[in-house]
Amino acid sequence: MPTHLEVNGQARETENDPAIPLAVYLREELELRGTKIGCGNGECGACTVVMDGRAVCSCLVPLGRTEGRRIETIESLGDLNNLHPIQRKLVERGAFQCGFCTPGIVMSLIALLRRNPRPDDAKIRTALQGNLCRCSGYVKLLEAIGEIVREGLHER
Ligand code: FES
Ligand code: FES
Repeated sequence: MPTHLEVNGQARETENDPAIPLAVYLREELELRGTKIGCGNGECGACTVVMDGRAVCSCLVPLGRTEGRRIETIESLGDLNNLHPIQRKLVERGAFQCGFCTPGIVMSLIALLRRNPRPDDAKIRTALQGNLCRCSGYVKLLEAIGEIVREGLHER
């Protein structure tokens, strides 16, 4: 049985094994490699995507469970030649080091800001608590996110 889903606004049908993680499908079949796989078991958040408006760990979602779902990955925002204002702010503020965790953090942030466009620091920290940065670059990241919220960059 094929699985039908929407990825970044595009309808997809796949015959891939419904038991594989969504993260593997995105990276290997669709070549959307902005979604990272760190731990592979729901502990690091590197694989975070937005599914029907909610941030989820795509390493924990079997492909077969995405039937009829709407998936957004980091590639839905911008690319190297045309960064989304959120991505540009993170670059300008040096808000990451190796960048492995960054796509997942951005997708968690996007899901939060759609629910609550003006979250306070506590709400931001709660929304990002599942996103770990092995480079421990949290200070600059949280400063940049504060600017993103104050400047309303997610609304542009
Ligand atoms: S790779 Fe999915 S939570 Fe770590
Ligand atoms: S910047 Fe390296 S894991 Fe976060």
